[in-house]
Amino acid sequence: MMNRVLIIGCGSMGSAVLSGCLKAGVWKKEQITIKDRDPQNAKNKAESYGVSWTDTIDQGLQNFDFILLSVKPNIVPSVLECIGRSNFHGLLVSLAAAVTLQQLEENISSDIGVIRVMPNTPVSVGAGMTAVALGSHATEQMGQDAERVFSSLGKTAVVTERQLDELGALSGAGPGYAFVIIDALADGGVRIGLPRALAIEAAAQTLYGAAKMVLDTGRHPAELRDQVTSPGGTTIAGIHAMEQRGIRAALMDGIAACMERSDEMGRKK
Ligand SMILES: NC(=O)c1ccc[n+]([C@@H]2O[C@H](COP(=O)([O-])OP(=O)(O)OC[C@H]3O[C@@H](n4cnc5c(N)ncnc54)[C@H](OP(=O)(O)O)[C@@H]3O)[C@@H](O)[C@H]2O)c1
Repeated sequence: MMNRVLIIGCGSMGSAVLSGCLKAGVWKKEQITIKDRDPQNAKNKAESYGVSWTDTIDQGLQNFDFILLSVKPNIVPSVLECIGRSNFHGLLVSLAAAVTLQQLEENISSDIGVIRVMPNTPVSVGAGMTAVALGSHATEQMGQDAERVFSSLGKTAVVTERQLDELGALSGAGPGYAFVIIDALADGGVRIGLPRALAIEAAAQTLYGAAKMVLDTGRHPAELRDQVTSPGGTTIAGIHAMEQRGIRAALMDGIAACMERSDEMGRKK
């Protein structure tokens, strides 16, 4: 049961999780304290969300049950040092990409449950995809607490740590790929004569609608594609031209390149 929550690092991800959880009622304002690098920023953000703020994590951490660590990976070691020195005994949920459970756990006491999560930016609009991996001292209840937070911001999947990194290359980086695809589809629309704004709206809504059909029906995307490709028709002509340009291989190679880069960055640490 989460009583007092401390968010360390209230930038894009920390704020997205905070606003989503308040909106969904998973957290109440009076449970939350935020800590940011700049105290003035923390104060302003706290006032805008109606939550508390603190300018130090050197003391008082034992008063919290749940810490959301949402600073950039290079800041994690100094924050872990403070947590390690404190009497905090609750659940530590880290969003930091490429900081492993082992790295998190070896710097703090073994009675702190550690969970790694890999969200993506659509958590800010309630349509996120978050991978959750449990550390060796995290209890089932802690896993459920973390899942409940991120389920209020979209979908979650509890996975192994390797799968969490793999999902980083698919869903974590995925909004980046999707924005490129939407932009390219809109360019196609403009090329054949559509105004830019209409082309962007139509491209985005079409991807959104197609994604919703896959999720709502549970049917394989190839089956849904077969339903819209009549023999000798226009859609199969469009798909054929895209396949000739290697659309599938390009996307598959993109995911592999992202994974390779992530592994390379992990090795450098
Ligand atoms: N954005 C994504 O799509 C995404 C996806 C998955 C995971 N993540 C992970 O989420 C984490 C946060 O990313 P982000 O995009 O939200 O970064 P961000 O917008 O830069 O937020 C980080 C926040 O932490 C603050 N901060 C810096 N040092 C601090 C300290 N010592 N104590 C407390 N706060 C401190 C920063 O303040 P200043 O700006 O003043 O320095 C900033 O407000 C990263 O570890 C990233 O790997 C992000």
